[in-house]
Amino acid sequence: MANKNLNAAKEAKKDEFYTQLEDINNELRHYKEHFRGKTVLCNCDDPRVSNFFTYFAYNFEFLGLKRLITTCYKNQNMDLFSQNKCEQAIYLIYDGDKNGNNIPDPEEIGIHPLKGDGDFRSRECIELLKQADIVVTNPPFSLFREYVAQLMEYEKKFLIIGHQNAIHYKEIFPLIKQNKIWLGYGFKGGAGHFISDYEDKATAGDHREGMIRVSGVHWFTNLEIKKRHEDLILYKTYSPEDYPHYENYDAIEVSKTADIPFDYEGAMGVPTTFLDKYNPDQFEILGLAEGDLGKELGLRPFNRELKKLNKSLRDGQLFYMKEGYPQKPYSRILIRKKQ
Ligand SMILES: C[S@@+](CC[C@H](N)C(=O)[O-])C[C@H]1O[C@@H](n2cnc3c(N)ncnc32)[C@H](O)[C@@H]1O
Repeated sequence: MANKNLNAAKEAKKDEFYTQLEDINNELRHYKEHFRGKTVLCNCDDPRVSNFFTYFAYNFEFLGLKRLITTCYKNQNMDLFSQNKCEQAIYLIYDGDKNGNNIPDPEEIGIHPLKGDGDFRSRECIELLKQADIVVTNPPFSLFREYVAQLMEYEKKFLIIGHQNAIHYKEIFPLIKQNKIWLGYGFKGGAGHFISDYEDKATAGDHREGMIRVSGVHWFTNLEIKKRHEDLILYKTYSPEDYPHYENYDAIEVSKTADIPFDYEGAMGVPTTFLDKYNPDQFEILGLAEGDLGKELGLRPFNRELKKLNKSLRDGQLFYMKEGYPQKPYSRILIRKKQ
């Protein structure tokens, strides 16, 4: 249901939901060493409502930051859910505590008007991006492709929130494959509660007042983290009975990441949740068996007879035979163990 809600929000380009300070804290505690002497930019953040601004302003000295820049997209009203009706956007610069009270006082924060609406793609916001070393925010999910493309173009370090759907984007997956982006530590249970006035469809036990629950959210980053170099412990042994071979690609089906056999040297199809455990020293990513990316991998197309047996088969996807029928596993990443 939460996914449905997200999709509906995305269609309507409803990007107004806000990250909790607790979630920012939980992730950022793993990255402290990256921030010393750095300029941080939060470029989708109304400082009056963004906990990213709060986090960096209040932890400025603790992290040893050089400068904090925050840009605000049109949202000038004190009302949290103002839907960006105001025209004037601003940016803020904070260079740390001056009066010794370790608190970002209003007189220590420089507030400057922006000429345009504060769109992260605008020339003036790009000028601010150029000054930044690390960009940290929860950007609009509806503009995620463009947002990441811009970070890559300007070769910025970043830590941003996105939806797991983004892993499947043809613009994003190749970056993951090339080890230019990876997943951070993440949200508990893979779901986040965001401050919002959208209707929450979460089940009663999971409902929190004034929030929407969004399942399948991740932190995406290109900052080094320990997790990314921890080996996944493999304990299963390979047998052809337990691991069917695909009919249209030379690889075996592994339906759970935990079941990756330690003694199989060839290609394996694993669920996309594998990325949460991916260590590039241990595994190589060969590709995503989906649509055009699957076709690029050279997956053989289906013949008519097979399609008659299973109408849901699509070219660019993997399949294997079980009791005479072609079985199509849900989205698979093809990987291989490194020697
Ligand atoms: C998912 S919200 C997150 C807000 C804030 N970063 C946080 O995590 O609390 C995305 C924010 O991006 C802003 N936004 C939407 N389009 C934008 C654009 N083109 N440029 C900059 N910000 C934009 C929205 O107004 C919204 O506040």
